[in-house]
Amino acid sequence: MLRPAQLLLMLGLPLISPAAIPPVDETQVNDLLARMTQAEKIGQLSQGVINTPEEVAAASLLVREGRRGSFILSASAEQAATFRNQLQKVALEQSRLRVPLIFGYDAIHGYRTTFPIPLGLAAAWDAALVERAQAVSARETRAAGIDWTFAPMCDLARDPRWGRVAETFGEDPYLGARLAAASVRGFQGDNPAAPDRVAATLKHYVGYSATVGGRDYNATDVTPFSLRNAHLPAFQAGVAAGALSVMSGFNATDGIPAVADHHALTNILRGEWGFNGFVVSDWTSVEEAIAWGYAADRAAAARLALTAGNDMEMVSTTFEETLPAQLARGDLSPALLDEAVRRVLRGKLRAGVFAQPYTDPAALDRVALAPDALATAREAAARSIVLLKNNGTLPLAATARRIALIGPLADDAGEMLGTWPGHGRPGDVVTLAAALRQRLPASTRLDVEFGCELLETGPRTRALTDGSIVSDPAAEVDAAKAKKRWSSALAAARRADVIIAAVGEPRGWSGENASRAELDLTGRQSGLLAALAATGKPLVVVVFSGRPLVLTNVAAQSQALLQAWHPGLQGGPALAALLYGDQEPTGRLPISFPRANGQVPIYYNHAMTGRPTMVDYRDLTRAPLFPFGFGLGYTEFTYGAAEISTPPDGPAVARTIITNTGKRPGQTVAQFYVRDVACSVGARPVQELRGWETLTLAPGESRTVSFPLDSAALGFTDRQGRWLVEPGDFQVWIAPHAGTGTPLPYRLEKAL
Ligand code: NOJ
Repeated sequence: MLRPAQLLLMLGLPLISPAAIPPVDETQVNDLLARMTQAEKIGQLSQGVINTPEEVAAASLLVREGRRGSFILSASAEQAATFRNQLQKVALEQSRLRVPLIFGYDAIHGYRTTFPIPLGLAAAWDAALVERAQAVSARETRAAGIDWTFAPMCDLARDPRWGRVAETFGEDPYLGARLAAASVRGFQGDNPAAPDRVAATLKHYVGYSATVGGRDYNATDVTPFSLRNAHLPAFQAGVAAGALSVMSGFNATDGIPAVADHHALTNILRGEWGFNGFVVSDWTSVEEAIAWGYAADRAAAARLALTAGNDMEMVSTTFEETLPAQLARGDLSPALLDEAVRRVLRGKLRAGVFAQPYTDPAALDRVALAPDALATAREAAARSIVLLKNNGTLPLAATARRIALIGPLADDAGEMLGTWPGHGRPGDVVTLAAALRQRLPASTRLDVEFGCELLETGPRTRALTDGSIVSDPAAEVDAAKAKKRWSSALAAARRADVIIAAVGEPRGWSGENASRAELDLTGRQSGLLAALAATGKPLVVVVFSGRPLVLTNVAAQSQALLQAWHPGLQGGPALAALLYGDQEPTGRLPISFPRANGQVPIYYNHAMTGRPTMVDYRDLTRAPLFPFGFGLGYTEFTYGAAEISTPPDGPAVARTIITNTGKRPGQTVAQFYVRDVACSVGARPVQELRGWETLTLAPGESRTVSFPLDSAALGFTDRQGRWLVEPGDFQVWIAPHAGTGTPLPYRLEKAL
């Protein structure tokens, strides 16, 4: 049963049927399948990794025998195309059936042109921009000899301790779904086989982000209702946008590893949504079904994964080792194997590897860092940065004669690249220090000071999971040098008219396997900021991080605060333009910023409670420091009281007038939130985003925004995947962020 229509309407997405993915020649698929031995079939479902010439040589032996159908190609940008061509030549000239290999890679936020991390991209609230960024990434990735990217991530970010929130589009299912679909369009265009496009992967299916305690690779608890309404929408949107593949997650919900979750992989993904691409596991996650206590042994792991609907095994080799005997014993049906192979072959055809098996090794040089790529990276960086506080210090006055730029991230190119930099290079990054030097008025002097190390915490050791203690090289700091840097930074601060502090967390402290228990600035940066604030000079803080940090003290100590994420190659020029007001800050938070570590997990769209006024802590409010959707500009907007009108011939409409009441042109993101006051089926959120509109207004200008109160706005998905709209009371908001606005009551008299 296909049920995508309502959800897709809710997302404002065209109703592309997954069946509309370019059809493939099924005769070719079936002919090939008919000629394959069982071992060759299993080979098509087995993915290896190559990084070095030695690995290419070893892989060649397997490819010659038809024992590998795919590789992760994470070799350097210079070597990738050559390695691809070498192995592809073996597949096409030495293997029996000459089936080309498909090469995958994690081009998550860029290949050579590194964009802001996905969480930063999401802060632009601009699907078209995300699509353009991913199209640039696709062009460079394909040129490097890669057919298939392991992106977009469709996981929902609710716990900032989890390092992988950096890779998400934030905490909202609606925003996330819109941006996941846009990413698929950017990667694949109309034809994923085109020379400037790649196949996309929706990952990690499903519920990986609900990891208990925010610890990566941990068990997950996802209720059937939140699975449907929070975790699945982005995947469904990505399927509808035509994604060729899905990656199953590392997690296990209710004890069932995602790689072996038949309900998710077969009933929902294929049965309900009609997905006809292929599913790849995550790295060794098939064999990890044993560690989860679900599969008794390697044979069970392979059988459970394949039976659940996981077609390709990444890195571990349980398929190759155990499927032949299981098939021989009749523990597995050969038809199941055939169907998985068909899906992979279709994927290869659609991704263009049969038509274009080889890559021109010079192609990447022709397209890498093209002017439009850098312009898009600059635009994306500027649009991703969120102004969180400003007492008027920004934009910087041209009259500031002396600026002290202080902090470990002022001039660190490598750290700007973020968690999945692709093959972005520090040498191509323009840091904030470099960009400010370019932008400063001639009369302004810039002092750049390091201040302190990102990870300078004194003597330090680290306990590994096996109980051994190792020293942390980051702690080996020359004390005399550290002291000198600190005092030199403070001296520069005292001389300055304005201090800009560039602080945050290392890029390696977000992303995979990078959970944090404390979400503060790392090392001695908090102390540095306190010392800078104590000078009494105006303090502008720029935070570079892969997640929301706890910025309560930082906000209190600063006159202006910008969240810059890890902004990619063009973060410096983007920041310089915003700091000087050449461009308005327009970013809006795609994730809540906690006031204290103890508040997490924290997200605006949490479920209702029986005692809504009593859910604070003894020692702290429940409110975040900065709510979802929040962000300032250099002008002010007034939102009028919302009202509802009911035209005779269509759904009711909520609308309001928004006015730019400030002195500069600017942009606001009018956000439309809904609460279903009583729901017979499950825990509805206190508020949920169901639309937004970005307005650019001149000073004094007003405009009306309106949002229809239709089925797409008011409905939800039940546990069986049906879209329901229940008559009764609703509340609606049109507001500049989730933490403000007066709810407007609305009564839906009859079902839509
Ligand atoms: C593990 C990660 O979880 C996944 O996101 C990535 O695509 C694969 N490794 C391949 O690198």
